[in-house]
Amino acid sequence: DTGVFTYDPGFTSTASCSSKITFIDGDKGILLYRGYPIEQLAEKCDFMEVCYLLLHDELPNGRQMQEFVNDITYHTMVHDQLTDFYKGFRRDAHPMATIVAVVGALSAFYHHELDIRCPIDRNLSAIRLIAKMPTIVAMSHKYSSGMPFMYPQNKLGYVENFMYMMHATPCEDYVQNPILVRAMDRILILHADHEQNASTSTVRLAGSSGANPYACITSGIACLWGAAHGGANEAVLRMLLEIGDVSRIGEFIDKAKDKNDPFRLMGFGHRVYKNYDPRAKLMRETCHEVLNELGLHDDPLFKLALELERIALEDEYFIEKKLYPNVDFYSGIVMRALGIPTVMFTAIFAMARSIGWIAHWDEMISDDEQKIGRPRQLYKGHTQRDVVSISAR
Ligand code: SDX
Repeated sequence: DTGVFTYDPGFTSTASCSSKITFIDGDKGILLYRGYPIEQLAEKCDFMEVCYLLLHDELPNGRQMQEFVNDITYHTMVHDQLTDFYKGFRRDAHPMATIVAVVGALSAFYHHELDIRCPIDRNLSAIRLIAKMPTIVAMSHKYSSGMPFMYPQNKLGYVENFMYMMHATPCEDYVQNPILVRAMDRILILHADHEQNASTSTVRLAGSSGANPYACITSGIACLWGAAHGGANEAVLRMLLEIGDVSRIGEFIDKAKDKNDPFRLMGFGHRVYKNYDPRAKLMRETCHEVLNELGLHDDPLFKLALELERIALEDEYFIEKKLYPNVDFYSGIVMRALGIPTVMFTAIFAMARSIGWIAHWDEMISDDEQKIGRPRQLYKGHTQRDVVSISAR
């Protein structure tokens, strides 16, 4: 259903689909989830409220919130046989590889009960996915670290439960510190959805064939893994560690500008934002809060990131190309401060984005008019020609 939308007089864009979930104005740096500005959601809501909003188009009242959280809490465990899937991997497998496999395996455990045309079944798929992603992500971390799995403690809240299972920091410090819990909650809110990004478009295209939601979400996880997309947060941290000192920033800015050098400034630029990514501003504020709370206000990596941003934003190349920090530029520094291993950054992104993916899947499947996606191409190959026998070739 390719349509042509006119957003502003004189500005038209060929859209691949229509959706009511998220709105982005890349030139103005505006991001709305179901009409609510990301800045207000990040300040006034928690991730569970945002999950409810993305799924049901309205923020929940008290009763709806309680029911939703109870449903999520009920489904946090995974089938014990599912844990066997991890054992097939080497311990040094990238967590995204294990997560792709285990989420895909959910199809084998829940697919047969699922009628995707039934709203109740679709809602249960969403609940199961939101509930189980933290458990699966934490298990991928424990497996790669050679530590025993921690099972969900359902007396804890969603984020606290995740960090308990991750044991990323001394558990007591983390689970009982509201500033650190709130920081992780905000990271999940900021990554929850983002319109038709590559991974969400992948989920929608996979879903348009009628494939089960767990298989579709798996395709989104695989797509997110790329360094140009969700893998950028891990790449930003590795880049900052490689730069090492403010004295070397100019060297890397020059590399990023060199057309003959494949290096790009990770965490900068965006397919849609030609202004400051509103999520990056919120992530930088979260950075300040977490580092101050942990007594790390002089964190050298954060200071390096701030100086890199300042220099890049004053550079005519970045100004001309409209390259600004995106959501990934500061997220890694926050997660590192929260004790999350670098190799787990993209997995956290996938955990957060799962709600966006399943909301878009549900929106598409519930549209009776939707047809299977079938992108066309600009053919640049040979014109028609005849085969000759191999002896004549
Ligand atoms: C995410 O789509 C989404 O919504 C994604 C996301 C989400 O929430 O789902 O927002 C999450 O993926 C954020 C992006 C994370 N990726 C990175 O930070 C990796 C580094 N950034 C880039 O690789 C790049 O900016 C992209 C891939 C994000 C966008 O690349 P494009 O499509 O080439 O961007 P563009 O058309 O705006 O580029 C304009 C120019 C180009 O040069 P010219 O061809 O005009 O000579 O700027 C250059 C680009 O080569 N450029 C960069 C650059 N990003 C773009 N040059 C140096 N460093 C960069 N980071």
